Amino acid sequence: MQVISVIQIGDIHFPEAELDVIGDFKDLSLSDGFGEAIGIGKKLRQVIQKVDQVKSELGVCGLLICGDLTTRGAIGKYRECIEYLNSNMRLDDAESVLPDHWHVVPGNHDVARTSLQPNARPFPDLFRPLEAEWNKHFPRGTLTVERLRASQLSHANCSIDLFSLNSCIGCGEWRRVPAKILESIADEVGRLLESEETPEDKFKAIAEQLDAPAFHQEHVTALCDAIKKLERKSVPIVLAHHNLLPQATPRLDVYTELLNSGMLRSRLAKLDRPIVYCHGHIHDDPVEVVANPQHTSGRLVIVSAPEVVKGFNVLKMAFGRDHNPLGLEIVRYRLRNDGDVSAEQPLRISFCHQPGMAFEISNDIQCAVRVSRSEPEPLTVIRDRFITESNQQPQFETVRDWLVEAEWHGLVELHHRDASPRDLRVRKVVP
Ligand SMILES: [Fe+2]
Repeated sequence: MQVISVIQIGDIHFPEAELDVIGDFKDLSLSDGFGEAIGIGKKLRQVIQKVDQVKSELGVCGLLICGDLTTRGAIGKYRECIEYLNSNMRLDDAESVLPDHWHVVPGNHDVARTSLQPNARPFPDLFRPLEAEWNKHFPRGTLTVERLRASQLSHANCSIDLFSLNSCIGCGEWRRVPAKILESIADEVGRLLESEETPEDKFKAIAEQLDAPAFHQEHVTALCDAIKKLERKSVPIVLAHHNLLPQATPRLDVYTELLNSGMLRSRLAKLDRPIVYCHGHIHDDPVEVVANPQHTSGRLVIVSAPEVVKGFNVLKMAFGRDHNPLGLEIVRYRLRNDGDVSAEQPLRISFCHQPGMAFEISNDIQCAVRVSRSEPEPLTVIRDRFITESNQQPQFETVRDWLVEAEWHGLVELHHRDASPRDLRVRKVVP
Protein backbone atom coordinates (compact mmCIF):
# COMPACT_ATOMS: atom_id res chain seq x y z
CA MET A 1 0.00 0.00 0.00
CA GLN A 2 1.50 3.31 -1.09
CA VAL A 3 0.52 6.71 0.27
CA ILE A 4 1.47 10.15 -1.01
CA SER A 5 0.92 12.93 1.52
CA VAL A 6 0.39 16.65 1.21
CA ILE A 7 0.34 19.17 4.07
CA GLN A 8 -2.24 21.96 3.71
CA ILE A 9 -1.68 25.18 5.67
CA GLY A 10 -4.49 27.76 5.86
CA ASP A 11 -4.47 31.53 6.33
CA ILE A 12 -1.56 32.78 8.44
CA HIS A 13 -2.26 36.53 8.91
CA PHE A 14 1.21 37.46 10.09
CA PRO A 15 2.11 39.20 12.34
CA GLU A 16 -1.28 39.39 14.12
CA ALA A 17 -1.24 35.60 14.51
CA GLU A 18 1.83 35.94 16.70
CA LEU A 19 -0.25 37.76 19.34
CA ASP A 20 -2.61 34.81 19.73
CA VAL A 21 -1.57 32.85 22.80
CA ILE A 22 -2.66 29.58 24.35
CA GLY A 23 -4.34 30.10 27.71
CA ASP A 24 -5.26 33.17 29.70
CA PHE A 25 -2.50 35.69 30.37
CA LYS A 26 -4.18 38.31 32.58
CA ASP A 27 -1.44 39.18 35.08
CA LEU A 28 0.64 41.39 32.79
CA SER A 29 3.04 42.24 35.62
CA LEU A 30 4.68 38.86 35.00
CA SER A 31 7.19 38.42 32.18
CA ASP A 32 6.41 36.74 28.84
CA GLY A 33 9.17 34.26 29.65
CA PHE A 34 7.34 33.17 32.80
CA GLY A 35 4.11 32.77 30.84
CA GLU A 36 5.85 30.58 28.26
CA ALA A 37 7.54 28.53 30.97
CA ILE A 38 4.15 27.50 32.34
CA GLY A 39 2.65 26.74 28.92
CA ILE A 40 1.17 30.09 27.82
CA GLY A 41 2.88 29.98 24.45
CA LYS A 42 2.16 31.36 21.00
CA LYS A 43 -0.42 29.37 19.05
CA LEU A 44 1.35 30.06 15.75
CA ARG A 45 4.67 28.67 16.92
CA GLN A 46 3.01 25.62 18.46
CA VAL A 47 1.22 24.74 15.21
CA ILE A 48 4.15 25.49 12.91
CA GLN A 49 6.46 23.35 15.04
CA LYS A 50 4.01 20.49 14.65
CA VAL A 51 3.88 21.04 10.87
CA ASP A 52 7.67 20.79 10.81
CA GLN A 53 7.60 17.60 12.88
CA VAL A 54 4.91 15.98 10.72
CA LYS A 55 6.80 17.03 7.57
CA SER A 56 9.91 15.24 8.81
CA GLU A 57 7.95 12.11 9.79
CA LEU A 58 6.20 11.90 6.42
CA GLY A 59 9.42 12.04 4.43
CA VAL A 60 8.57 12.88 0.81
CA CYS A 61 5.47 15.06 0.78
CA GLY A 62 3.89 18.10 -0.80
CA LEU A 63 3.17 21.40 0.92
CA LEU A 64 0.30 23.74 0.06
CA ILE A 65 0.10 27.26 1.54
CA CYS A 66 -3.38 28.71 0.98
CA GLY A 67 -2.56 32.47 1.04
CA ASP A 68 -3.34 35.40 3.36
CA LEU A 69 0.20 35.34 4.72
CA THR A 70 -0.56 38.81 6.05
CA THR A 71 -3.61 41.03 6.65
CA ARG A 72 -3.25 44.54 5.24
CA GLY A 73 -1.18 43.86 2.15
CA ALA A 74 1.97 45.37 3.67
CA ILE A 75 4.88 43.92 1.75
CA GLY A 76 7.18 44.18 4.79
CA LYS A 77 4.86 41.97 6.85
CA TYR A 78 4.52 39.56 3.93
CA ARG A 79 8.33 39.32 3.81
CA GLU A 80 8.47 38.71 7.57
CA CYS A 81 5.99 35.86 7.20
CA ILE A 82 8.13 34.15 4.55
CA GLU A 83 11.17 34.52 6.81
CA TYR A 84 9.19 33.15 9.77
CA LEU A 85 8.05 30.10 7.78
CA ASN A 86 11.52 29.53 6.43
CA SER A 87 13.20 29.62 9.83
CA ASN A 88 10.53 27.55 11.63
CA MET A 89 9.61 25.05 8.93
CA ARG A 90 12.97 24.83 7.15
CA LEU A 91 11.47 25.46 3.75
CA ASP A 92 14.95 25.53 2.26
CA ASP A 93 15.56 21.98 3.46
CA ALA A 94 15.00 20.29 0.11
CA GLU A 95 15.42 16.83 1.59
CA SER A 96 11.85 16.64 2.89
CA VAL A 97 9.91 18.92 0.57
CA LEU A 98 11.41 19.59 -2.86
CA PRO A 99 10.79 23.14 -4.15
CA ASP A 100 8.69 21.69 -6.99
CA HIS A 101 6.44 20.00 -4.45
CA TRP A 102 5.27 23.08 -2.59
CA HIS A 103 2.85 25.64 -3.86
CA VAL A 104 1.80 29.05 -2.52
CA VAL A 105 -1.12 31.21 -3.72
CA PRO A 106 -1.95 34.85 -3.00
CA GLY A 107 -4.82 35.68 -0.63
CA ASN A 108 -7.07 38.74 -0.82
CA HIS A 109 -5.39 40.13 2.30
CA ASP A 110 -1.94 39.92 0.66
CA VAL A 111 -2.88 42.49 -1.98
CA ALA A 112 -1.56 46.03 -1.39
CA ARG A 113 -4.66 47.87 -2.63
CA THR A 114 -3.59 51.34 -1.55
CA SER A 115 -0.59 51.22 -3.88
CA LEU A 116 -2.85 50.92 -6.95
CA GLN A 117 -3.28 54.04 -9.05
CA PRO A 118 -6.86 55.13 -9.83
CA ASN A 119 -8.19 53.53 -13.00
CA ALA A 120 -5.36 50.96 -12.99
CA ARG A 121 -6.16 47.23 -12.95
CA PRO A 122 -4.84 45.19 -10.02
CA PHE A 123 -3.86 42.11 -12.03
CA PRO A 124 -1.00 41.40 -12.45
CA ASP A 125 0.84 44.45 -11.08
CA LEU A 126 -0.36 44.18 -7.46
CA PHE A 127 0.89 40.59 -7.27
CA ARG A 128 4.40 41.16 -8.59
CA PRO A 129 5.86 42.43 -5.28
CA LEU A 130 4.62 39.22 -3.60
CA GLU A 131 6.24 37.13 -6.28
CA ALA A 132 9.50 39.08 -5.95
CA GLU A 133 9.61 38.34 -2.20
CA TRP A 134 9.31 34.59 -2.76
CA ASN A 135 11.83 34.69 -5.57
CA LYS A 136 14.42 36.28 -3.26
CA HIS A 137 14.39 33.13 -1.15
CA PHE A 138 13.24 30.43 -3.59
CA PRO A 139 13.75 31.36 -7.25
CA ARG A 140 11.61 28.50 -8.56
CA GLY A 141 8.27 30.20 -9.20
CA THR A 142 6.85 29.00 -5.88
CA LEU A 143 4.05 31.59 -5.74
CA THR A 144 1.32 31.36 -8.34
CA VAL A 145 0.49 34.77 -9.84
CA GLU A 146 0.17 35.16 -13.61
CA ARG A 147 -0.20 31.58 -14.79
CA LEU A 148 -1.32 28.16 -13.78
CA ARG A 149 1.48 26.40 -11.91
CA ALA A 150 1.79 22.63 -12.21
CA SER A 151 4.16 20.04 -10.78
CA GLN A 152 4.11 16.32 -10.19
CA LEU A 153 4.89 14.43 -6.99
CA SER A 154 5.77 10.79 -7.67
CA HIS A 155 6.71 8.09 -5.22
CA ALA A 156 7.11 4.34 -5.81
CA ASN A 157 5.37 4.46 -9.21
CA CYS A 158 2.37 6.38 -7.79
CA SER A 159 1.77 10.04 -8.47
CA ILE A 160 -0.32 13.08 -7.74
CA ASP A 161 -0.32 16.26 -9.82
CA LEU A 162 -0.29 19.57 -7.98
CA PHE A 163 -1.82 22.68 -9.55
CA SER A 164 -2.20 26.18 -8.15
CA LEU A 165 -4.02 29.21 -9.46
CA ASN A 166 -4.60 32.78 -8.40
CA SER A 167 -8.20 33.34 -7.23
CA CYS A 168 -7.64 37.02 -6.35
CA ILE A 169 -7.67 38.45 -9.88
CA GLY A 170 -10.18 41.23 -9.05
CA CYS A 171 -9.03 42.02 -5.50
CA GLY A 172 -8.42 45.76 -5.56
CA GLU A 173 -10.50 46.42 -8.70
CA TRP A 174 -11.91 49.99 -8.90
CA ARG A 175 -15.63 50.75 -9.12
CA ARG A 176 -17.01 54.22 -9.80
CA VAL A 177 -20.29 55.34 -8.30
CA PRO A 178 -22.94 54.18 -10.84
CA ALA A 179 -24.22 56.92 -13.18
CA LYS A 180 -27.84 56.72 -11.95
CA ILE A 181 -26.77 57.32 -8.37
CA LEU A 182 -24.40 60.07 -9.47
CA GLU A 183 -27.33 61.91 -11.07
CA SER A 184 -29.35 61.87 -7.87
CA ILE A 185 -26.48 63.11 -5.73
CA ALA A 186 -24.92 65.39 -8.35
CA ASP A 187 -24.81 68.48 -6.13
CA GLU A 188 -23.18 66.63 -3.29
CA VAL A 189 -20.64 64.99 -5.62
CA GLY A 190 -19.86 68.40 -7.12
CA ARG A 191 -19.03 69.81 -3.68
CA LEU A 192 -16.94 66.73 -2.92
CA LEU A 193 -14.93 67.03 -6.12
CA GLU A 194 -14.29 70.73 -5.54
CA SER A 195 -12.82 69.97 -2.14
CA GLU A 196 -10.31 67.46 -3.58
CA GLU A 197 -7.22 68.90 -5.26
CA THR A 198 -5.48 66.23 -7.32
CA PRO A 199 -7.12 64.11 -10.06
CA GLU A 200 -6.25 61.02 -7.97
CA ASP A 201 -8.08 62.36 -4.92
CA LYS A 202 -11.08 63.35 -7.04
CA PHE A 203 -11.23 59.82 -8.47
CA LYS A 204 -10.99 58.25 -5.03
CA ALA A 205 -13.82 60.50 -3.80
CA ILE A 206 -16.29 58.96 -6.29
CA ALA A 207 -14.92 55.43 -6.61
CA GLU A 208 -14.18 52.52 -4.34
CA GLN A 209 -11.84 49.55 -4.38
CA LEU A 210 -13.57 46.20 -4.32
CA ASP A 211 -12.66 42.80 -3.08
CA ALA A 212 -13.82 41.12 -6.27
CA PRO A 213 -12.11 37.72 -6.17
CA ALA A 214 -12.11 35.70 -9.37
CA PHE A 215 -10.13 33.21 -11.42
CA HIS A 216 -8.67 34.25 -14.74
CA GLN A 217 -10.52 32.50 -17.56
CA GLU A 218 -7.24 31.45 -19.20
CA HIS A 219 -6.01 29.82 -15.99
CA VAL A 220 -9.25 27.82 -15.65
CA THR A 221 -8.98 26.59 -19.24
CA ALA A 222 -5.30 25.73 -18.80
CA LEU A 223 -6.11 23.78 -15.63
CA CYS A 224 -8.89 21.73 -17.22
CA ASP A 225 -6.78 21.04 -20.33
CA ALA A 226 -3.85 19.91 -18.16
CA ILE A 227 -6.05 17.59 -16.07
CA LYS A 228 -7.56 16.02 -19.21
CA LYS A 229 -4.06 15.02 -20.32
CA LEU A 230 -3.12 13.29 -17.05
CA GLU A 231 -2.84 9.55 -16.72
CA ARG A 232 -5.86 7.99 -15.01
CA LYS A 233 -3.63 6.74 -12.22
CA SER A 234 -2.67 10.24 -11.07
CA VAL A 235 -4.91 12.37 -8.87
CA PRO A 236 -4.96 16.16 -9.44
CA ILE A 237 -4.83 18.36 -6.35
CA VAL A 238 -5.72 21.99 -7.05
CA LEU A 239 -4.81 24.85 -4.71
CA ALA A 240 -6.36 28.34 -4.60
CA HIS A 241 -7.14 30.80 -1.81
CA HIS A 242 -10.92 31.05 -2.13
CA ASN A 243 -13.73 28.56 -1.54
CA LEU A 244 -15.65 27.07 -4.49
CA LEU A 245 -18.88 26.64 -2.52
CA PRO A 246 -20.51 29.44 -0.48
CA GLN A 247 -19.40 29.24 3.14
CA ALA A 248 -21.78 27.97 5.83
CA THR A 249 -21.71 31.29 7.70
CA PRO A 250 -24.17 33.85 6.22
CA ARG A 251 -22.21 36.93 5.18
CA LEU A 252 -23.53 40.29 4.04
CA ASP A 253 -20.90 42.17 2.10
CA VAL A 254 -20.03 43.14 -1.46
CA TYR A 255 -18.53 40.26 -3.48
CA THR A 256 -17.69 38.03 -0.53
CA GLU A 257 -17.57 34.91 -2.69
CA LEU A 258 -15.62 34.15 -5.86
CA LEU A 259 -17.32 35.71 -8.89
CA ASN A 260 -16.78 32.69 -11.13
CA SER A 261 -16.35 29.74 -8.75
CA GLY A 262 -19.32 28.01 -10.38
CA MET A 263 -17.49 27.95 -13.70
CA LEU A 264 -14.48 26.12 -12.26
CA ARG A 265 -16.61 23.85 -10.05
CA SER A 266 -18.81 22.82 -12.98
CA ARG A 267 -15.86 22.16 -15.29
CA LEU A 268 -13.92 20.11 -12.72
CA ALA A 269 -16.95 17.99 -11.82
CA LYS A 270 -17.35 17.09 -15.50
CA LEU A 271 -13.84 15.71 -15.92
CA ASP A 272 -14.87 12.18 -14.93
CA ARG A 273 -12.13 11.58 -12.37
CA PRO A 274 -11.46 12.28 -8.69
CA ILE A 275 -10.08 15.80 -8.15
CA VAL A 276 -9.17 17.43 -4.85
CA TYR A 277 -9.55 21.21 -4.42
CA CYS A 278 -7.79 22.79 -1.42
CA HIS A 279 -8.43 26.29 -0.15
CA GLY A 280 -8.35 28.63 2.86
CA HIS A 281 -10.02 32.09 3.15
CA ILE A 282 -13.10 31.17 5.21
CA HIS A 283 -11.13 30.43 8.43
CA ASP A 284 -13.17 27.27 8.80
CA ASP A 285 -12.50 23.65 7.88
CA PRO A 286 -15.38 21.97 6.04
CA VAL A 287 -14.81 19.02 3.72
CA GLU A 288 -17.44 18.81 0.97
CA VAL A 289 -17.92 16.63 -2.09
CA VAL A 290 -19.44 17.77 -5.38
CA ALA A 291 -20.64 15.22 -7.92
CA ASN A 292 -22.36 15.54 -11.28
CA PRO A 293 -24.79 12.63 -11.87
CA GLN A 294 -24.14 12.84 -15.61
CA HIS A 295 -20.42 12.25 -15.01
CA THR A 296 -20.46 9.38 -12.57
CA SER A 297 -16.69 8.77 -12.58
CA GLY A 298 -16.06 12.31 -11.34
CA ARG A 299 -15.89 13.40 -7.76
CA LEU A 300 -14.69 16.83 -6.63
CA VAL A 301 -13.49 16.77 -3.02
CA ILE A 302 -13.24 20.29 -1.56
CA VAL A 303 -11.03 20.61 1.52
CA SER A 304 -10.73 23.83 3.51
CA ALA A 305 -7.91 24.51 5.96
CA PRO A 306 -8.64 26.61 9.06
CA GLU A 307 -6.58 29.63 10.11
CA VAL A 308 -3.15 28.25 10.89
CA VAL A 309 -3.43 29.19 14.60
CA LYS A 310 -6.16 26.53 14.82
CA GLY A 311 -4.19 23.78 13.06
CA PHE A 312 -3.53 22.28 9.62
CA ASN A 313 -4.53 19.32 7.42
CA VAL A 314 -2.61 16.36 6.06
CA LEU A 315 -4.06 14.80 2.90
CA LYS A 316 -3.02 11.18 2.36
CA MET A 317 -3.70 9.75 -1.08
CA ALA A 318 -3.81 5.95 -0.93
CA PHE A 319 -2.81 3.81 -3.92
CA GLY A 320 -3.35 0.10 -4.54
CA ARG A 321 -0.80 -2.48 -5.63
CA ASP A 322 -1.51 -1.66 -9.26
CA HIS A 323 -0.74 2.04 -8.46
CA ASN A 324 -4.35 3.11 -8.99
CA PRO A 325 -5.75 5.69 -6.50
CA LEU A 326 -8.01 4.10 -3.88
CA GLY A 327 -9.10 7.11 -1.89
CA LEU A 328 -8.21 10.12 0.20
CA GLU A 329 -7.69 10.20 3.95
CA ILE A 330 -7.85 13.67 5.50
CA VAL A 331 -6.12 13.99 8.87
CA ARG A 332 -6.96 17.20 10.70
CA TYR A 333 -4.33 18.29 13.21
CA ARG A 334 -5.87 20.78 15.62
CA LEU A 335 -4.53 22.87 18.50
CA ARG A 336 -6.24 21.93 21.78
CA ASN A 337 -6.90 24.16 24.76
CA ASP A 338 -4.03 22.47 26.61
CA GLY A 339 -1.54 23.49 23.91
CA ASP A 340 -1.25 20.05 22.33
CA VAL A 341 -1.52 19.79 18.54
CA SER A 342 -2.98 16.38 17.79
CA ALA A 343 -4.67 14.49 14.96
CA GLU A 344 -8.43 13.96 14.87
CA GLN A 345 -10.05 10.78 13.61
CA PRO A 346 -9.31 10.77 9.85
CA LEU A 347 -12.03 11.42 7.26
CA ARG A 348 -11.91 8.80 4.53
CA ILE A 349 -13.27 9.36 1.03
CA SER A 350 -13.10 6.34 -1.25
CA PHE A 351 -12.65 6.68 -5.01
CA CYS A 352 -13.33 2.99 -5.65
CA HIS A 353 -17.10 3.16 -5.84
CA GLN A 354 -17.20 5.26 -8.98
CA PRO A 355 -17.69 3.44 -12.29
CA GLY A 356 -14.48 4.69 -13.92
CA MET A 357 -12.44 3.92 -10.81
CA ALA A 358 -13.66 0.37 -10.18
CA PHE A 359 -10.28 -1.23 -10.77
CA GLU A 360 -9.87 -4.98 -10.72
CA ILE A 361 -9.41 -6.55 -7.29
CA SER A 362 -6.61 -9.12 -7.25
CA ASN A 363 -7.25 -12.79 -6.48
CA ASP A 364 -5.17 -12.53 -3.29
CA ILE A 365 -7.32 -9.70 -1.96
CA GLN A 366 -10.51 -11.53 -2.89
CA CYS A 367 -9.24 -14.62 -1.05
CA ALA A 368 -8.29 -12.62 2.06
CA VAL A 369 -11.81 -11.12 2.11
CA ARG A 370 -13.37 -14.53 1.57
CA VAL A 371 -11.64 -16.03 4.62
CA SER A 372 -12.64 -13.06 6.83
CA ARG A 373 -15.71 -13.28 9.09
CA SER A 374 -18.49 -10.83 9.86
CA GLU A 375 -17.24 -10.61 13.48
CA PRO A 376 -13.99 -8.66 14.08
CA GLU A 377 -10.98 -10.97 14.17
CA PRO A 378 -7.22 -10.48 14.60
CA LEU A 379 -5.18 -10.34 11.43
CA THR A 380 -3.17 -13.39 12.55
CA VAL A 381 -6.31 -15.54 12.44
CA ILE A 382 -7.19 -14.37 8.95
CA ARG A 383 -3.62 -14.96 7.74
CA ASP A 384 -3.68 -18.54 9.10
CA ARG A 385 -6.94 -19.21 7.29
CA PHE A 386 -5.56 -17.65 4.10
CA ILE A 387 -2.51 -19.96 4.24
CA THR A 388 -4.75 -23.00 4.62
CA GLU A 389 -6.99 -21.98 1.75
CA SER A 390 -4.38 -20.77 -0.75
CA ASN A 391 -1.29 -22.77 0.16
CA GLN A 392 0.74 -19.52 0.07
CA GLN A 393 2.83 -18.06 2.91
CA PRO A 394 2.36 -14.26 2.61
CA GLN A 395 4.14 -11.91 5.01
CA PHE A 396 1.99 -10.54 7.82
CA GLU A 397 2.36 -7.00 6.41
CA THR A 398 1.31 -8.17 2.94
CA VAL A 399 -1.99 -9.52 4.24
CA ARG A 400 -2.54 -6.27 6.12
CA ASP A 401 -1.98 -4.27 2.90
CA TRP A 402 -4.47 -6.46 1.02
CA LEU A 403 -7.10 -5.85 3.66
CA VAL A 404 -6.39 -2.12 3.81
CA GLU A 405 -6.99 -2.06 0.06
CA ALA A 406 -10.12 -4.18 0.47
CA GLU A 407 -11.42 -1.63 2.98
CA TRP A 408 -11.20 1.16 0.38
CA HIS A 409 -13.35 -1.09 -1.86
CA GLY A 410 -15.93 -1.40 0.93
CA LEU A 411 -15.38 -5.15 1.41
CA VAL A 412 -14.06 -5.17 5.00
CA GLU A 413 -13.88 -2.84 7.97
CA LEU A 414 -10.66 -2.39 9.94
CA HIS A 415 -10.63 -1.67 13.67
CA HIS A 416 -7.57 -0.15 15.42
CA ARG A 417 -6.14 0.71 12.04
CA ASP A 418 -3.47 2.97 13.50
CA ALA A 419 -2.38 0.59 16.25
CA SER A 420 0.31 -2.02 15.65
CA PRO A 421 -0.56 -4.59 12.93
CA ARG A 422 -0.86 -7.29 15.63
CA ASP A 423 -3.73 -5.33 17.24
CA LEU A 424 -5.57 -4.84 13.95
CA ARG A 425 -9.05 -6.37 13.83
CA VAL A 426 -10.83 -7.13 10.55
CA ARG A 427 -14.54 -7.54 9.89
CA LYS A 428 -16.05 -8.59 6.57
CA VAL A 429 -18.90 -6.28 5.53
CA VAL A 430 -20.00 -8.05 2.33
CA PRO A 431 -21.90 -11.36 2.25
FE1 LIG B 1 -7.93 35.20 5.77
